[in-house]
Amino acid sequence: MRRLRDYSLITNNTFGIDAKAKEFIEYDSVAELEAVIPELRDRTVLHIGGGSNLLFTGDFDGVVLHSNIQEIEVTHNGRSHVDLRVGGGFVWDELVAFAVANGWSGVENLSLIPGEVGAAAVQNIGAYGCEAKDVIVSVETVNLTDGSHRTFKNEECGYAYRQSVFKNELKGCYAVTYVNIRLSKQFQPNTAYGNIRQALEGKEVTPQTVRQAIIDIRNQKLPDPKQMGNAGSFFMNPVVSHETFERLKSAYPDMPFYDVPNGVKIPAGWLIDQAGWKGKALGRAAVHDKQALVLVNLGGATASEIVRLSETIQADVQRKFGVSIKPEVNFVGGSEKQAGLNL
Ligand code: EPU
Repeated sequence: MRRLRDYSLITNNTFGIDAKAKEFIEYDSVAELEAVIPELRDRTVLHIGGGSNLLFTGDFDGVVLHSNIQEIEVTHNGRSHVDLRVGGGFVWDELVAFAVANGWSGVENLSLIPGEVGAAAVQNIGAYGCEAKDVIVSVETVNLTDGSHRTFKNEECGYAYRQSVFKNELKGCYAVTYVNIRLSKQFQPNTAYGNIRQALEGKEVTPQTVRQAIIDIRNQKLPDPKQMGNAGSFFMNPVVSHETFERLKSAYPDMPFYDVPNGVKIPAGWLIDQAGWKGKALGRAAVHDKQALVLVNLGGATASEIVRLSETIQADVQRKFGVSIKPEVNFVGGSEKQAGLNL
């Protein structure tokens, strides 16, 4: 276990914000987590993962927890599928690399997404037509109030686009310790989204080549947080009513869109781009020049500069298109009760 006081979180958030935590505790096992739970009573607690989807808007006047549970275990190896039990602190992309190296499929489309396995289960990460919920069998957790254990079956996790019960009704209640994942031994490529098929042209389609195609596409569009602080998509893609969609479509016939059960999804990146924000900066915070959905830290940006940019963009998109866009990134201030988020 690692315990540090007045700890700078700069290396624990991909935006590179220099916020401090009053105390930082990194546990290596479930037993170590259980041992610290009595100390968490009456304190503000935030459980982080790789910090790739959060923005610290101030110092954190409480305890930041981080899982260093790193095991990966094959719990079932059958003819058609394999089940893995993976520690919450395991790096997501290392799980994808491990799966692909063994010829197991299901997560290759989720290649190169930053962050850790526990957070992937909380955020229901998604890309290129796949979501974490498609492979998650169950999520093992520890209750941060009383230390009891609970395993949530997939159906109990309330999964939806970038949503789960752990971000909503049960926010602050549980830490994810292990995630049970089912991968297939019968590869069925999912290459319908965007330009994956194009990137695979002339190549044999295997989990490995799909992974490489996705790595190449992401590297072209998304900035590497090690070079330029960012948290991937800053906003979620809004779902609008059919009425709003018809209005927008007649004004912008080339607007991309996806039909979803509750309306029509419009890419926020397209709205921000059309509003003229791509590549623009306010202070040291900017809109990435290759993907308008991503806000970047040009170097030394404060959280308030990033918040100001995001609010200005939201207001502008609202004014120009009558559409409200909401951050996908979780804002964490100094005093909110945010335990168990595995962000
Ligand atoms: N677009 C523009 N200009 C831009 C960006 C996008 O016109 O600057 C248009 C594109 O041309 C395309 C459409 O918007 O027609 C959608 O763009 P893209 O395929 O790049 O995907 P996205 O909707 O912008 C989502 C996820 C990404 C994920 C990709 C691929 C969200 C909020 N974002 O982005 O997730 O990698 O699809 O599946 O759902 C993340 O969550 O951090 C993330 C990167």
